[in-house]
Amino acid sequence: MKTLIINIKELIQVRDKSVLKVSGAEMAVLPTIKNAYLVLQNDLIADFGFMEDMPEDLNPEKCIDAYGKMVLPAWCDSHTHLVYAGNREQEFVDRINGLSYEEIANRGGGILNSAKKLNETSEEEIYDQSKVRLEEIMRLGTGALEIKSGYGLTVDGELKMLRVIQKLSNNYPITIKASFLGAHAFPLEFAKNHQGYIDLIINEMLPEIAKNKLAVYIDVFCEMGYFTVEETEQILEAGIRFGLIPKIHVNQFNSIGGIKAGIKYNALTVDHLEVMKSEDIEALKNSKTMPVALPSCSYFLGIPYTLSRELISSGLALALATDYNPGSTPSGNMNFVVSTACIKMKLTPEEAINAATINGAYAMGISKTHGSITIGKKANLIITKPISSYYQLPYAFGSNLIDAVLIEGEVFI
Ligand code: NIG
Ligand code: FE
Repeated sequence: MKTLIINIKELIQVRDKSVLKVSGAEMAVLPTIKNAYLVLQNDLIADFGFMEDMPEDLNPEKCIDAYGKMVLPAWCDSHTHLVYAGNREQEFVDRINGLSYEEIANRGGGILNSAKKLNETSEEEIYDQSKVRLEEIMRLGTGALEIKSGYGLTVDGELKMLRVIQKLSNNYPITIKASFLGAHAFPLEFAKNHQGYIDLIINEMLPEIAKNKLAVYIDVFCEMGYFTVEETEQILEAGIRFGLIPKIHVNQFNSIGGIKAGIKYNALTVDHLEVMKSEDIEALKNSKTMPVALPSCSYFLGIPYTLSRELISSGLALALATDYNPGSTPSGNMNFVVSTACIKMKLTPEEAINAATINGAYAMGISKTHGSITIGKKANLIITKPISSYYQLPYAFGSNLIDAVLIEGEVFI
């Protein structure tokens, strides 16, 4: 089907297909076309340009008038834990009343609390709860996302989560990439036998996941009280042997050397980075690894924000993602992430939009097909309400400025 969008006030993030990510000073540049048209052919972007140059013989089946509105690529959310069971509202209130995230985890709450709920919930029920969240974020403009396992922490639980992710991917037009995060926390029964759980991951979980093609990435929570650098390396190495690509949680509360480990194993991304030493930034230079900041997590937990200005001024790239999960970030709203990145991390609107589109796509290995307005890329688009400039997107935090979302060329209701 051919769809034509006309009178676009500004077409945002127009890129040549050779651009797969933007780094350093390039992040401040957001190429746009004012007063534009855009042609979609089925699920792909087929053509675009200035309104005055629009060919007369287009004969579209559908025409959308975007008078006063802007069009940009749908958000690419490269870090979520969207599949989970129940919620952790009680821990939220416990934190308001003075307990820390760490204290809650040490009492058997936190990740282990979600793992208990997940193992007690049927696969169908987990799917039903997760699809509500997926539909919500699609309406909020997300056009591609990564989803992690990591609330099973048993062979059955991890496989159940990954099957739910696979089913969401099969049933919805949105692109979904699955990460295996069996190394999210040590289950209580392995508290004094870490190697026992690592062996379970390597000898029982990974072979099944690889056989059934249930994940493309291997993730580890490398942090004090969770997985050490040595344990992380052991798991990444095994994941690589099974054909998975590393992508790790690191430097959330402490800098213990996990970034170097990620780079050593060619991690596609290192995520969180709330606590950084200068040697961590040095290690990231001269690597292809993308740093990923998760500002909604900092907002919700009251922990430091990733020092993104330092990363960008060191010439590095940066991606923004939600971290949507029941414990540290119960929100999958990329509009809030973009806004918070500007307000709290002092990213310019151009940097934040680049970080949430083309760099987010790179952080999922899909920037050849997603993340910019480029001929041949997926027609995953946000059409805004009438707005004065794209600055309004981060500026009017909390407002929903989205008029319509197109996923693979179709309006998603
Ligand atoms: O990315 N840091 C580790 N994992 C998640 C939170 C897990 C949870 O609290 O359930 C995160 O913030
Ligand atoms: Fe996370």
